[in-house]
Amino acid sequence: MKASKKHNITRREMILGTAAAVTVTLTSSKIDHAGALGAPTEPKLVNLDVNLSVNGKKHQLLLDTRTTLLDTLREHLNLTGTKKGCDHGQCGACTVLVNGRRINSCLTLALQHEGDSITTIEGLGTPKKLHPMQASFIKHDAYQCGYCTPGQICSALGVLNEIKSGIPSHVTRDLTGKPEMSNMEFRERMSGNICRCGAYSNIAEAFEDVAAKS
Ligand code: FES
Ligand code: FES
Repeated sequence: MKASKKHNITRREMILGTAAAVTVTLTSSKIDHAGALGAPTEPKLVNLDVNLSVNGKKHQLLLDTRTTLLDTLREHLNLTGTKKGCDHGQCGACTVLVNGRRINSCLTLALQHEGDSITTIEGLGTPKKLHPMQASFIKHDAYQCGYCTPGQICSALGVLNEIKSGIPSHVTRDLTGKPEMSNMEFRERMSGNICRCGAYSNIAEAFEDVAAKS
């Protein structure tokens, strides 16, 4: 389990801490209900400094320890290209790259990424100089509403890295060699990125185009 490097808090400890705070609140609520002891106490907020490198720029932020990486990007750094869909790890709209690996930013706390290098859609290209994957999505008309698109593009880049690094998936035929840069591999690996508009076939074509040149 990954620990916050600077604050040395594991996720388990963080969850146990939150559970303890809830228990204390519930207990004091019960006592209050019985009319014994004053107003219920609020759980104490804890703010900590977190250092992140986002799209090559260093940031030091004072954050409530419960702040997700997604909310940090959107609400504290105004990087709204990363989308909030389900906020429960189900849709992939919030996918970003952390040290080159794709991750659902709604499922992780900013505190756990002390010192990490994060890349969002804003860090890939600009309207004048698009990243090849962005250009390929446009070329293949790989979106309709576009809400899932930043997550799809970040995830597609993560998939490219995974295949190049030889990380197998459930559909990799030969586990002794490198996985193929195939449509089937891509579809399997991108199964966590949901597109409500159903642009899947064009998204796969956009990926294949980039994969063929890389
Ligand atoms: Fe993170 Fe849906 S918003 S997976
Ligand atoms: Fe609309 Fe994917 S383009 S959700």
